[in-house]
Amino acid sequence: MMMTPSETCPICGGTGWQTIERGKEREAVRCECRVRDRGERLLAAAHIPARYQHCELSNFQCDPDDKGQKSIRDARFLAGRFVEEYPTDKTGLLFVGSVGVGKTHLAVGIMKDLIREKGIHCLFCDYRELLKSIQNSYNPSVQATEMEILRPVFEAEVLVLDELGAVRSTEWVFDTVNYVLNSRYNDNKTTIITTNFPDKPEQDKAEIDNLSSRSAADRAARRETLGDRIGERMRSRLHEMCKKVEIDGLDFREHSKQAQFRRHESPSRVTLRSSKRGTP
Ligand SMILES: Nc1ncnc2c1ncn2[C@@H]1O[C@H](COP(=O)(O)OP(=O)(O)O)[C@@H](O)[C@H]1O
Ligand SMILES: [Mg+2]
Ligand SMILES: [Zn+2]
Repeated sequence: MMMTPSETCPICGGTGWQTIERGKEREAVRCECRVRDRGERLLAAAHIPARYQHCELSNFQCDPDDKGQKSIRDARFLAGRFVEEYPTDKTGLLFVGSVGVGKTHLAVGIMKDLIREKGIHCLFCDYRELLKSIQNSYNPSVQATEMEILRPVFEAEVLVLDELGAVRSTEWVFDTVNYVLNSRYNDNKTTIITTNFPDKPEQDKAEIDNLSSRSAADRAARRETLGDRIGERMRSRLHEMCKKVEIDGLDFREHSKQAQFRRHESPSRVTLRSSKRGTP
């Protein structure tokens, strides 16, 4: 049998208790290995995908002088304040913004700090994968039941629901989102949401039908909204559950690639280029 680290702990010898002297009194306190183990257990149980393991609030970059990054700085500030105020304030967060602006990075950074600093039970949940596994559970050859898949999602103290709306909307999708969000709302549990869809109401269906007969450019100009994707009733419920944080910026990866490229250019090339293209 494998031994867990706490069983071989040199401080407590695996009991999980440590005796400390207080004047003449001796007192048993929880050994630090157990406190640390709890953090590690919670981190493992949070199911943060490998591609987001590096995300921390402390390595989230923002330029203090760039006027264009104000919403990114504000989002970083609100994420830090959320950690400080939880659980006194249990209102969730709704990160809204285009792809790559750092929404998931901030949500994961919050989870990690809540786990480390406050021992909170958090869970990361990808919206598409959640709906896929629920749908899968209806298949008779699959062992897990719908309830087995949903239980951890209902029970987590803080749930990160990533990419809300990323599945094409159907009655079933509406009902399922409704079920998940309403259950957490009724249990007074905190949900942190990210979405790439603009937080606007459901648009007129007649208008959409009408658009399908128009040019592709017309259709592209009319972007689908969060209301279209999860239904208007759920969108307004979200506003009761969460504080909205809108991030308006460029895809971080593109932006940092360009910055790297600029750094590597020799000064003469830069002069040449900027004289050709005019000053930015
Ligand atoms: N301000 C930032 N500082 C450091 N890394 C960032 C920042 N914004 C985004 N990233 C990184 O860029 C990638 C895309 O960010 P992500 O949070 O997944 O974007 P979104 O969820 O908004 O689509 C991730 O690897 C993330 O760690
Ligand atoms: Mg994301
Ligand atoms: Zn110990």
